[in-house]
Amino acid sequence: MDLGLRDATVVVNGGSKGMGRAAAECLAREGARVAVLARGREALDETIAMLTALGCPDAVGLPADLTRAAEVDAAFAAVGERWGALNALVNAAGPTDVGIGSFEAIDDAEWAATLEVGLMSAVRCVRAALPLLRTASWARIVNVSAHSTKRQSPEIVAYTAAKAALTSFSKNLSLSLAGDGILVNTISPGSFLSEGMRDYLRALPADRGVDPDSLEDAMRVIREDFGHPAHLSRAGDPAEIGPVIAFCCSPVNSYMTGANVNVDGGSDFC
Ligand SMILES: NC(=O)c1ccc[n+]([C@@H]2O[C@H](COP(=O)([O-])OP(=O)(O)OC[C@H]3O[C@@H](n4cnc5c(N)ncnc54)[C@H](OP(=O)(O)O)[C@@H]3O)[C@@H](O)[C@H]2O)c1
Repeated sequence: MDLGLRDATVVVNGGSKGMGRAAAECLAREGARVAVLARGREALDETIAMLTALGCPDAVGLPADLTRAAEVDAAFAAVGERWGALNALVNAAGPTDVGIGSFEAIDDAEWAATLEVGLMSAVRCVRAALPLLRTASWARIVNVSAHSTKRQSPEIVAYTAAKAALTSFSKNLSLSLAGDGILVNTISPGSFLSEGMRDYLRALPADRGVDPDSLEDAMRVIREDFGHPAHLSRAGDPAEIGPVIAFCCSPVNSYMTGANVNVDGGSDFC
């Protein structure tokens, strides 16, 4: 299916690794121009080289820490100068090294850091992107939340609260922007073997016998440590969610807004 993305302009934050990178790859394959926002220069450069090699008509990496408003504003100013308008914004960056732990293990500073990356990074990017989205002939926003918001998650209490806030923000935004024709959707991933997940698996004691490249081992750990199973008995590969995000970014998605789409191997009712 042609998603109608040829020459569309798209920003993917958190697009240098994991699911954001997989989305950027799909968008590039569809012929979109893609700007990737993240902090680490090395992963950004490597991602832009990959997108360019795929034939992406214009791929650019913009280093930005999304917890810093000035860096977000500078990145979107650069996007505006480059393209003048924006068709889609993907908010894929999320907390990776904060917000994991039980209620009593997380102090105020960690709560604040978790909400900064988990909620405020998307809020800031939407605010900075809106003038560019309104200038485009069609526009979409995709917010990457988490399936853990839909179940009890006492070992990831702050992370889950930040993601629940993002989901609520996304839902309300879809109504606020409906009059502008800007469609806003949430994706709720289950457990995916991303870079962030691999880091977690690598840090586990050797006696747990975990292969950090195994989708089955990743699922076993998620079940044991966080109590989240999935019907498919394995974690997802980021390449399996990229097309879903690309569809939500595209003009072929013309009637879905305010939705919260599970891509979770069937974990919603486990
Ligand atoms: N993996 C899972 O099982 C899972 C499950 C449910 C939901 N999610 C959510 O899905 C999204 C993608 O997760 P993932 O596991 O694929 O991610 P990942 O592999 O850990 O990659 C995270 C991306 O976000 C960027 N990032 C993180 N903090 C940032 C900041 N302050 N400013 C700018 N960029 C930042 C990272 O680049 P730099 O570090 O270089 O900045 C990287 O590009 C996240 O929102 C995550 O919370 C993940």
